[in-house]
Order: sequence, then C-alpha cells, then structure tokens
Amino acid sequence: MSKKLWGGRFTSDTNEMVNTFNSSIQFDKRLWREDIQGSIAYCKMLGKQGIISENEAKKILSALQEIYSEIEKGTFIFDESSEDIHTLIEKALRQKTGTLGEMIHTGRSRNDQIALDTRLFIKNSTGNILQLIREFQLSLIELAEKNQDLIMPGYTHLQRAQPVLLAHHLLAYYEMTKRDTQRYKEALKRTNVLPLGSAALAGTTFNIDREFLSKELRLQRITANSMDAVSDRDFIAEFIFISSLLMMHLSRLCEELIIWSTQEFDFIEISDSFATGSSIMPQKKNPDIPELIRGKTGRVYGHLISLLTTMKGLPLTYNKDMQEDKEPLFDTVDTVEKSLSIFSLLLREIDFKKENLKKATENGYLVATDLADYLVTKGLTFRKAHHIVGDMILSAQKQNKELHQLDLHEMKHFSSLIGNDVYAWLDPASCIDRRNIKGATGPKEVKKAVRKAKKELQS
Ligand code: ARG
Repeated sequence: MSKKLWGGRFTSDTNEMVNTFNSSIQFDKRLWREDIQGSIAYCKMLGKQGIISENEAKKILSALQEIYSEIEKGTFIFDESSEDIHTLIEKALRQKTGTLGEMIHTGRSRNDQIALDTRLFIKNSTGNILQLIREFQLSLIELAEKNQDLIMPGYTHLQRAQPVLLAHHLLAYYEMTKRDTQRYKEALKRTNVLPLGSAALAGTTFNIDREFLSKELRLQRITANSMDAVSDRDFIAEFIFISSLLMMHLSRLCEELIIWSTQEFDFIEISDSFATGSSIMPQKKNPDIPELIRGKTGRVYGHLISLLTTMKGLPLTYNKDMQEDKEPLFDTVDTVEKSLSIFSLLLREIDFKKENLKKATENGYLVATDLADYLVTKGLTFRKAHHIVGDMILSAQKQNKELHQLDLHEMKHFSSLIGNDVYAWLDPASCIDRRNIKGATGPKEVKKAVRKAKKELQS
C-alpha cells in the first residue's frame, strides 16, 4: 500500500523515476505563503459552516500559523520527497495535529489549490512590479528633468528626421510604461477571483461558503464555473503577455542606449560602474546591462509561447500538463523584477554629451520640414513647398552645405518668397519652440508633461 495522499487504490509503490518526473516541489515550494493563506481561510470557513467543529478549526488554524512562521524563520525543513507544495503543507499539518489535519481537505482538491495559489502569487507579484515600474519612471523623469533643454535628432527609419527635446524622447517611455501599469491593474480584475469550491471540477456536496473565502483572501469575486476555474490559465498567460510588452518597451530603450553609446553616435556615456570590459581588447567599454535586459526580453516572450502551447490542446478540466505553467511564470516575475530594478539604477548612471547631440541636430537637414512649413506660411501649398525644399537640399548637398549655409540670394533662386527671417526660422531650437501644440516636443508642452508625470507618480 502506497503512503501517497492518493495511495488508497494503489497496490505497489511508485517507481522512483516517476516520483522525480512527476514532482513539482522543487519549484512550487515557492508558493508556500499562498498555499498556507489559502488553507487558513479554508479552515476558518469549514469551522464557520460547521463542516468541522469550531474547536477543530482552531487547532488546525494554529498549526497552520505555526508552519507559516517556521518557514518564515527558516527552521522548517522542506521535504522534497513530497509531490508538491500542497502535499508538503498537508503532511506538516498532519505531523502537528494527527488525523485532525486530514479534515482540511474536505470539499477541496489540489486542482483548486493550485489555481488559487497562482492567482494569489500573481496578485502579490503584480504589486511588486507596479512599485518597480514606478521607480523606473521616477528615474526616467529625473533624467528628463536633468536634461530639460537638451536638443537631439529625432529619427524615423533611424535616419535623422527632425529636432526634438531629449526629455520628450524619454517621456515617450513614460507613456509606454504607464500603459503597462494600466494593463497590469486591469488584468488583476480577472486574476483576483476565487476558484476554491470547485472540488477538482464539479463543485462539492459540502456547504462551502465561497463568498466568505473570497472576502477572507481579499479577492474580488468567485469563479462562475467550477470546470473553468480549475482548467484555465488565461490569467497567467495574460500576466506573461503584459510582462512581455513591458520587457519590449524596456528593450527598445536599451537598444537606444546601446547605439547612443557607440562611437558612431557618441551621445551618451554610461558610468564605469555600470559597464564592463573585454578580456582581450583593453580599450573596450561595453554596455552589458542594457544588452542583458534586451536579451532577457526574449526569454519572457519564450515563456508566453511555452504556456500558450502547453494549453492549446488540453481537454477540460485539469491535466498534469498544466504543472508546466509554474516555471515560466516564476521566471517571468524574476526577470521583470530584476530588469526593472537595475534599469532604474542604470538611468542614474547616464551622462548625455550635450555638444554631440547639438552637433547631430545641425547636420542632416533636420530642419527641412520647417523650411517647407515656412514656405506654407508665405502662401504656398505644402506639396509645392516640399518640392522646392527638396530641390534646395539637392543643391546644398552638392556644395556640401546645410540649408542655413545657403545665402539669401541662392535661396531666393528657389523661391522669391524666402526672406531674411528664414535663418532664425532654421535654428533647431526655434523648430522645437514652434511645436507648441498638445503632445508635441515644444518646451512648454514638455515641461507640462514632466509636471503631469511627476504628479501622477505621487498619487
Ligand atoms: N502540482 C500540480 C500543478 O502544479 C498541482 C495540482 C495537482 N493536481 C493533481 N490532480 N495532480 O499543476
């Protein structure tokens, strides 16, 4: 006879390899807090409903609390021969209370427990991640404010396009991560739902008070269908998807930091304490940290595909395949948390090379759009103006000049509408000043955006 939780109908011991292959304790022990919290609430409910006596509930409860604090203190020994965290906690409970502890599983399945534990785990992790995003955003705003007046080239197709404020560029990432925050919060509405009471799949014959459990565990609702409750992992997939988007945003900024630190761009210097060297090339200073965040993004995408693929062919309800959801989830949380933490520090270690940024806005005809706009203010249609400026650029290129280096006589050859005021108009700073509509790179708008972001981060 097997000593397993489920050993009753078995006549021989489990093959050792099956034990090892089947077990999840090595990784799901991480869910001990959530598992015990779930059991504590469940035990209170069993007592309240008279499914077990109040006295029995009290004894089980204090044993569970004991186990919790032993694990917290580090005195609890994780017996890795247990199949999973639920088995382990129940075993510890039985060691403390004898047969009393066996009552805790009345009307409950491990299928319900794991659905609950992962939901609680995501709820807790989301709280941490939201805090870390906030710290990242604070560092970003600090960097934007520190470089409030810096002008740099804005790019499309990685070709110089128009001058922008560096702060405006950085604030774009504030907006992206702000949406990530909203997404995490919205997803919580679907995650903070109680699956207990499913009793493996069909619901239970015991008078379980699900609403009480939901309140006890500070969840918002109870699941509406017991088969759905134990089958679906969409809330995990959604969490990893949102994390993938967040990582994508971080990764794009990392890519920019990497190219900005090249000799070709030479826009930034990352401090020595946040860069690394080469074992063979003495001159090298490498941006490993942004490279690693960019690299780890792929790992989170992988977890998303892994989970979606695990789930796609599963019939209702629980299948053991679903045990494969844990490692991708845990690694996603770890990767996102570590990436955000180090990124917030990295942002404080970046110096912008003011002169190089400025020089870069002065070469490459970034003011061409503004020259066309100028001609429109003098009465031309934009199409016509665009064409004229194109001709002017061709001619300037041949002479190896920028637009503002053409003299007025030459300019007038392309359009008699051009006057002396054009030179002030072609100053990159004036291009930025004129973009004063809402959401644009004009200094007043950007200042407002910084102020708004700071206010949002305070609340
Ligand atoms: N370790 C399992 C998992 O992670 C827990 C649920 C087990 N349920 C079962 N009937 N074997 O999915």
